[in-house]
Amino acid sequence: MNNSLQDEIKQLKEEKNAIILAHNYQPKEIQDIADFLGDSLELCIKASEIEDKDLVVFCGVDFMAETAYIINPDKKIVIPDLEAECPMAHMLPEEELLKAKEEHPDAGVILYVNSIAEAKQHADTLCTSANALKITESLPHDKILFGPDTNLGRHVQEKTSKEIIPVPQGGHCYVHKLIHLEDVELKRKEYPNAIIICHPECNIEVQNACDEVLSTGGMLKFIAESDSTEFVIGTEIDMITRLNSEIPGKKLYPLLEGAICGTMKLHTLEKVRDALKNEKPMIEVPDDVAEKSLNAVKHMLDAS
Ligand code: 13P
Ligand code: SF4
Repeated sequence: MNNSLQDEIKQLKEEKNAIILAHNYQPKEIQDIADFLGDSLELCIKASEIEDKDLVVFCGVDFMAETAYIINPDKKIVIPDLEAECPMAHMLPEEELLKAKEEHPDAGVILYVNSIAEAKQHADTLCTSANALKITESLPHDKILFGPDTNLGRHVQEKTSKEIIPVPQGGHCYVHKLIHLEDVELKRKEYPNAIIICHPECNIEVQNACDEVLSTGGMLKFIAESDSTEFVIGTEIDMITRLNSEIPGKKLYPLLEGAICGTMKLHTLEKVRDALKNEKPMIEVPDDVAEKSLNAVKHMLDAS
């Protein structure tokens, strides 16, 4: 543990009246210094409750920090490493969404929060993996354009009578795509008493073979409330770091050790210190895009 660096971060945070928000996939050193840790929905909600702060250091990927900016356009939102992008969010360019809307004028549009701000401005609402079904049911439309994650879309399709139209075809998370049905079968044999949980970004056959399909925040709640003691966790590897520090006494095994989101790991204590000190790199969304995207963000927050 790097105490002097942690002390420096603490002092800078006070001086700058800053808050550090971090996603559940952050490495342990960042989880340890975060003021708030959560899944995408919890981070959005928290970002809407920080009126008293002047500076936000967002330890997550680009779309999460952009969403915090859309909610707080007057605040300084910095991200320790600007290269921390979510490749899935970039799989749906604005033009492709506009084309799909033209082809399906009667469909409602739900975008996964893992999307770029330019696309968000054309959505009726957003969703995260924690609220996708609830948000789908909250729209009056029978047909829903849903993207960019095809697997989350299929997860919703299995639970709703509405027609889910994926946009684009095949949008995915490369990390969750690494998890295969054979991994579930192997872990069932290895840990016959464990409950196997995966994230809805996993392929649908993996989802169907697991006992529970939950967002990262949902996993934490489920395991904390469960009487079972053994769980296999099918998502990014540092989710287990969060679970171990918050729910001691459970045996947790990764469904796939190699499920690592490389860009989430770009943030380090040194970069957090520098972001606090220099108040950059800043996340900014053009004013008109931020203004238009806010409608979809607000709809999701109200419906959650
Ligand atoms: P959660 O909202 O479940 O934390 O998921 C975010 C994400 O990017 C998963 O890959
Ligand atoms: Fe994006 Fe996948 Fe990383 Fe989540 S795990 S931030 S969806 S690349």
